[in-house]
Amino acid sequence: MKLALVSTSLALLLWVSLACADFDGTAVDANLNATARPDHIVLTWSDDPATTQTVSFRTALGVAAGSVVCWQAGKDADEAASQAAAATPFRTAATDQVQGSCLLWTATLTDLEPMTRYSYLVRTEAGRSAAYSFTTGPRPGSPAPFTFLVFGDSQSGAPRNPDYRVWHETVTAAYARNPDARFLMNVGDFVEVGHYYMHWNNWFAAARDVIACIPEMPVQGNHETYVDAEEKTTAKPTYLTAQFRVFANGPEGLGGQTYSFDYGDAHFAVLDSQEDEEAKIAGPVLPKQAAWLADDLTRSAKTWKLVFFHKTPFYNKAARANELLKSVLGPVCESHGVDLVFNGHDHGVSRTYPIKNNRLLSQPGDGTVYYVTGRSGAKTYDDLTRKVWDAFFYDPQDQSCYLTVRIDGPRLTVRAFQADGTPLDSYTIDKKDPSAGTITAAPARFNKTRTVVYGDFLPGQALISKSGSAAQDAQGTWFVDARAFMSYLGGSASYQDGTTWLFLAGKSYAVPSDRARFNSDKVLTISAGAIHDLLGFQYRYDDALNALCFAK
Ligand SMILES: [Fe+2]
Ligand SMILES: [Fe+2]
Repeated sequence: MKLALVSTSLALLLWVSLACADFDGTAVDANLNATARPDHIVLTWSDDPATTQTVSFRTALGVAAGSVVCWQAGKDADEAASQAAAATPFRTAATDQVQGSCLLWTATLTDLEPMTRYSYLVRTEAGRSAAYSFTTGPRPGSPAPFTFLVFGDSQSGAPRNPDYRVWHETVTAAYARNPDARFLMNVGDFVEVGHYYMHWNNWFAAARDVIACIPEMPVQGNHETYVDAEEKTTAKPTYLTAQFRVFANGPEGLGGQTYSFDYGDAHFAVLDSQEDEEAKIAGPVLPKQAAWLADDLTRSAKTWKLVFFHKTPFYNKAARANELLKSVLGPVCESHGVDLVFNGHDHGVSRTYPIKNNRLLSQPGDGTVYYVTGRSGAKTYDDLTRKVWDAFFYDPQDQSCYLTVRIDGPRLTVRAFQADGTPLDSYTIDKKDPSAGTITAAPARFNKTRTVVYGDFLPGQALISKSGSAAQDAQGTWFVDARAFMSYLGGSASYQDGTTWLFLAGKSYAVPSDRARFNSDKVLTISAGAIHDLLGFQYRYDDALNALCFAK
């Protein structure tokens, strides 16, 4: 009996080892590990989800023909229809770790019946894949309920170690618990280095049992633009756009990166938030997307409007504001009734209060909720905090996580889970009965003006006294606690021989004498204007909170 147990354990270990062997660090060869037999099978949509299905796969060079064979599930496979696939050569960039090539094949099945289960396989002259099944979407505008999955930041966390075991565990566990999920959204940073093919090879292997069965709709992250391990050089995310075929309805120059589609009674808009990485190589990307999004949302009459982009305007990571992103995309989403914005990038799970015009609100539907998805891969950050705009926050240090979104007529519920299924959060918007939604009481107005830096309240002495030397002086200038402000940034402030000095990152700044003062509590304060001029911070007074908010 004992021997049998040992034998079983060894067999299990061997199976796990073999099963993981192609996504935990496997190197790629000059064929990028592609063979004459098809693999990297992935479903996406590039046309109506109710009546079409796009299928993509990979082979080595030299394969002459590929096709997708499809038949209604449960019916005789002899009645299958065959759709020829088109091949596009793919070559790794000159900067990649491996120089190699393969063929990427795509076919779009058309004239399918809505809400119908189909089986399919892909084949070449050298072999065929296993058979998989998918279900077509509902007729446009259908109120039929459905669920989809959202994953954030599946990257390995190590540029030279493309280990996608955590992503594998997360995506397979989420799908196993939600076999009725119709598709998944991945909100960016699929891989650690977007122009290192080894990462993509292992990413596909890790997700293969899910993405061959439900469409994977991509949202591009900043890591998809990285050319080198040091993240010094960026390029268009060509590895991503070559491997995922999506709707071609976005603004010019952003094919595969910006697009929208309808599923049931919901509208999905996907944007590229990588202004920092792409503006220097391809020009600004945010302004033209804002115009496109405004038009796209205006034309949609769907009950639900959901927007996806990678970098979040409402961050959790220390000192990582996205003020430009917030100012360009936020007003478009909030003024066009977007219910939820799904983001990634910060690897935490967080949900804001409903927000409109910088106001934190309580009632679902009164503003846009920004949901940061958390990590589905191995990478964690150790400087995440709950910010003033967060109604929910969880730092997934211990486990990766995922979201489910259930839309049932006028009711939408988004839930967050740890990879082992432990529930983290549940938030409901009910458009028929708003009182049945999740009410999140927005922060009350503070009696005394608070200082907020990057969404964090300054502790202790940062509380600005309204007695004596007030927060606002006779000229209407705000003054804040200099030492608390600089300490938050990792610097310091001091008063020496009549001059106030700020020290930060090896630099020192002398504050003009009319912009620094001791208040009545003997606290050294400096004006908000000095903080702007010397350190580059923007600031605004939030009257609803009675807080002076700084970010840059
Ligand atoms: Fe990111
Ligand atoms: Fe990331």
